[in-house]
Amino acid sequence: MAIVPNPYKTTGALGWIDDRFPLTKMWRDHLSAYYAPKNFNFWYFFGSLALLVLVNQLLTGIFLTMNYKPGADLAFDSVEYIMRDVAWGNIIRYMHSTGASAFFIVVYLHMFRGLIYGSHRKPRELIWIFGSLIFLVLMAEAFCGYVLPWGNMSYWGASVIINLFGTVPFIGPDLVTWIQGDFVPGDATLNRLFSLHVIALPFVLVGLVFAHILALHEVGSNNPDGIEIKKNKDPETGIPKDGIPFHPYYTVKDLVGVAGFLILFSAVIFFMPDGGGYFLEQPNFTPASQVSTPEHITPAWYFGTYYAMLRATPSFAGTQIWGVIVMFGAVVILFFLPWLDRSPVKSIRYKGPIFKTAVGIFAVTFLLLNYYGLQKPSEFVTLVSRVGTIIYFAFFLGMPFYSKFEKTKPVPERVTE
Ligand code: HEM
Repeated sequence: MAIVPNPYKTTGALGWIDDRFPLTKMWRDHLSAYYAPKNFNFWYFFGSLALLVLVNQLLTGIFLTMNYKPGADLAFDSVEYIMRDVAWGNIIRYMHSTGASAFFIVVYLHMFRGLIYGSHRKPRELIWIFGSLIFLVLMAEAFCGYVLPWGNMSYWGASVIINLFGTVPFIGPDLVTWIQGDFVPGDATLNRLFSLHVIALPFVLVGLVFAHILALHEVGSNNPDGIEIKKNKDPETGIPKDGIPFHPYYTVKDLVGVAGFLILFSAVIFFMPDGGGYFLEQPNFTPASQVSTPEHITPAWYFGTYYAMLRATPSFAGTQIWGVIVMFGAVVILFFLPWLDRSPVKSIRYKGPIFKTAVGIFAVTFLLLNYYGLQKPSEFVTLVSRVGTIIYFAFFLGMPFYSKFEKTKPVPERVTE
């Protein structure tokens, strides 16, 4: 069969490849001829930073896996070995453990950007749904990773989370034994979580990130004004008037974000690798023990908001299933955001005071829940967590009403910066 000559008129080695593989086409479609709105601001750094952190986790993870040993009798010591004896081992481990926290900080800010600029709205619903799936898988990935050092918090954290499956009616207790592969978290549990952490979940995560970006490039990026730049094209070139090529403009601009991020990231790794007890918790510096429970079992900080909801929900008829439903519901509701938001405008810039106040209250509530989710239980903590949980759900469930009826400002034809 004859080879179809490539339309890019590339020659030499590149031409040879382009005749057989869409290399130049991909470069153009996704970089040099991908037109992004010219008014991206600070909030638009977090997508590329999430990619950077993903790559960091994959690379440092490969090197950790070379020296880590799954197994209830081996894991803790192998992490100590990495920290003390493997060349650069301590830096690689801190890059990975701090990287996990950085991932959640970056992704939370990335999601918040989407929320305030209406990036979840038509035609970007699928980008948001892929994003929400990424968030779910990321949580599972982080949970599995947290268990691997087999410190005392790993052990008890695993026990608490796996036991949540025990609340499923009828099959709960059997389900827990089946997931653990044992009657308590043990060697089998650690081995399966290791397998999920290093193979299955990263594979799914990377696939979802590809889908996320493909969907984005199909419809084009939103922007702080929430204006569809494709609606206003130059009649001769067909290029959006408010668009600029992603490369070189945003590849260079994103490097500024990367530099800022790396300065902060290195500062934590070199000067405060445990993040003040938040990125690596004290009880995890002692090996897992079935007989000594940490004084206060908490999940990693990034689960604080959802853990607060779990604890805040009262148990009915002796079962905690409602807490589990509320906690998962808080994540599942994200998937429906594109349809809950009925505002005639996308960006917060053109919304009215009700939405602005609602988002403000939501953000503060999210942070408060996160904080109180990590505190020792008390009546006050339960009260704040209950009020916070109600506000969290009210923000989403009330959205179809307050977003629809609120008076909005007129949206300009062209982007404003
Ligand atoms: C591994 C995690 C993730 C990576 C690597 C990632 C990557 C990216 C990249 C590179 C972009 C384009 C640049 C930008 O707009 O900032 C983007 C856009 C977007 N992402 Fe993500 N993302 C991740 C997670 C999420 C999550 C969890 C959500 C929401 C639940 C989400 C929602 C969106 C939306 C709605 C856009 C379009 C933004 C717009 O056009 O304004 N992403 N993502």
